[in-house]
Amino acid sequence: MTDIHATIEQAVALIRSRTALQPQIGLVLGSGLGGLADTLDNRVVIPYADIPGWPRSTVHGHHGNLVIGHLEGQVVACQQGRAHFYEGYSQQEVTYPIRVMHALGIQTVILTNAAGGLNTRYRVGDLMLLKDHINFVGMVGNNPLMGPNDDRVGPRFLGMVQTYDRDLRLKARSVAAEAGITLHEGVYVCLSGPNFETPAEIRMLRTIGGDAVGMSTVHEVLVARHAGMRVMAISGITNEGIDDPDTTLETNHEEVLEAGKVLVPRLTAVLRGMLRAL
Ligand code: HPA
Repeated sequence: MTDIHATIEQAVALIRSRTALQPQIGLVLGSGLGGLADTLDNRVVIPYADIPGWPRSTVHGHHGNLVIGHLEGQVVACQQGRAHFYEGYSQQEVTYPIRVMHALGIQTVILTNAAGGLNTRYRVGDLMLLKDHINFVGMVGNNPLMGPNDDRVGPRFLGMVQTYDRDLRLKARSVAAEAGITLHEGVYVCLSGPNFETPAEIRMLRTIGGDAVGMSTVHEVLVARHAGMRVMAISGITNEGIDDPDTTLETNHEEVLEAGKVLVPRLTAVLRGMLRAL
C-alpha cells in the first residue's frame, strides 16, 4: 500500500509549483455548479489529472480542475467538480481532495451539491443550508474514517454534534436574507446512488427527518471535521422527490443539470457574500 501522506505531500508540492497563492478557504463545487471557479481573479487552473492521487469524476456536468485564485478578497481553492463513491472510488479516494486541501493549510471548507428535495416546501432552484445530516452510506460500513486512525490528524471517535459550523450558518443566513435569496436550513440524507430514489424511499427519507437527498458531501464533511476544519455546506435543490409510483414523471440527471443554471447565480451570490463576510 502506498503511503497516503507521501502522496498528499506530492500533491501539495505540485500545487505549490503552479501558484504562490496560499488559499485559506476551500470550495467544492458540485454537479452543474462549477461555473463560479471561472470567475476567480488571478486564477491558476490545475487539471485533476496533474495532481498525484487526485480522483477524477467521470460524470457529465463535472469539470475536473482545482482552480486557485482570488474571490471577494479571499484566496480560495475551488474544486470544480468532484469524484463520487458510486463511480467506484473508495471512501478514502473520494475524500482525498479534502485531505490535500487541509495539507495546503486550508482551515475552512464550503461544500456544495445538487440534491433532490424531500421537504414538500422546497422548490426546484431553492438553496438549503445543511444543519445536520443522515449518513446512510456510513451506516452500512462505508466511512472514510475506517481503518487505522492517524492521531496526528484527528481523533479515533469523532463527535458529530458540532458538524456544520454555527457561525458560518449564521453568516450564510444573513447574507442570503440581505440578497433576498431563500435559504432553507435542513437535514441532508446521503445515499450512495447512482440510481435515484424510489417513491417508497422518498417517503421513508421524509419520515425519518430528511429535507434533501444526495450522493455526496457527507464523507467529505467527515474527513474535514476529523482534521478540525470548519465546515459549511449548501444543497441546490435540482428536483423534487417523487413520492407517487403511479405518476408518469421520472427523475433524471438532465433536470439536475438544467436546474443548476438557475441555482448558479443564487449560489454564487451567497458564496460571494460569505467570502466577503469571512
Ligand atoms: N436524489 C439523489 N441525488 C440527487 C438528486 C436526487 O433526487 N438530485 C440531485 N442529486
